Amino acid sequence: MSDRLSRLDVAGRVVFVRSDLNVPLARDGEQVIISDDGRIRASLPTIQSLRERGARVVVVAHLGRPRGEADPALSLAPVAARLGDLLGTPVRFIPAVTGPVVADAVATLGDGDVALLENVRFDGRETSKDPAERVALAQEWATWADAYVSDGFGVVHREQASVTDIARLLPCAPGALVEAELASFARVLRDPERPYAVVLGGAKVSDKLAVIGHLLERVDRILVGGGMAFTFLKAEGFSVGDSLLEEDLVPTVREIMERARSLGVDILLPVDVVIAQELSADAEARVVSVGEIPAGWKGLDIGPDTARRYAQALADARTIVWNGPMGVFEIASFAEGTRAVAEAMAGSSGFTVVGGGDSAAAIRVLGIDETRFGHISTGGGASLELLEGRVLPGISVLEEGTA
Ligand code: 3PG
Repeated sequence: MSDRLSRLDVAGRVVFVRSDLNVPLARDGEQVIISDDGRIRASLPTIQSLRERGARVVVVAHLGRPRGEADPALSLAPVAARLGDLLGTPVRFIPAVTGPVVADAVATLGDGDVALLENVRFDGRETSKDPAERVALAQEWATWADAYVSDGFGVVHREQASVTDIARLLPCAPGALVEAELASFARVLRDPERPYAVVLGGAKVSDKLAVIGHLLERVDRILVGGGMAFTFLKAEGFSVGDSLLEEDLVPTVREIMERARSLGVDILLPVDVVIAQELSADAEARVVSVGEIPAGWKGLDIGPDTARRYAQALADARTIVWNGPMGVFEIASFAEGTRAVAEAMAGSSGFTVVGGGDSAAAIRVLGIDETRFGHISTGGGASLELLEGRVLPGISVLEEGTA
């Protein structure tokens, strides 16, 4: 537990805990299935430790982006049930975000009890661009809450009522998850052990430009895969068929390659790719060298030769950061590149960090043991912004400190 969390006066107090419980839901008839409960599990240590200290815990979280409208399909009710199962104690679901329903329910909580409010984004003030609206919502919560714990790492890059505004009104502290995430990112950003390799994938180069810009001066090699690789390949003069391409970024990518060369950073690009004519499980998949992608075909994974080279390039690394899959891992014929990189990381004796979002999901979908990684982030956008070197509002606000 962090020093600040242990110093927070919580016994017999109502503690407002912001968690990130934004989990994927699937439906089977009437039944709602939580297809990946990783974020719920990651929220348990903070909630559990607050309960043990006699706090009355009110968890606040969002699901999807309902934009201020109540949407039954985005209710947190199924999440409350799963949270209760995992905690081993019932979690009271309060079907409102604010108002007398919430205040009355909170008033009946006993020491060690846990409640979860309805999806906080059902109230448009949560994500409002107008600070006065957000503050008004936070002030309503502060009428019944005594302290604030920020544990939703996946939202600390957001300026939102339950992330930043509430922190200015109450004694506050980071939760265990936020502390653990920040410690892991500090380790790869401040004084990483070398050799230092970064694996970048995902659909778009544009999403990763700022990360590349920030990491280029810190790392020894960057391995590029996923849809974004094709803009790099195009910049190197290869034709890429119908693969994903951000044509307008080709000159920018050339500059990146040039800068990498002058800094002595190796940028590794695919030498072969798995291609198909369409993105489907029954499409015919072929392996070709880059530069041999015919018109009408698109690259959907790195090829086996590339996967072997990438695994080799990770073998001696003492620090590895991975953000973005190497291919469309959700479909078996395009999953092997992502699997190879994930396995190489899992087998590394260096410190390995997996950015949240798709890369974390890939590890679970591919069934790779999560304990074989140094850290798997729960935050997609938040981890990307940390890797970009940005100061996150949900973190800096905790330093302002009202505690
Ligand atoms: C996420 O899924 O990355 C977090 O829950 C944040 O969600 P958001 O991008 O809708 O703010």
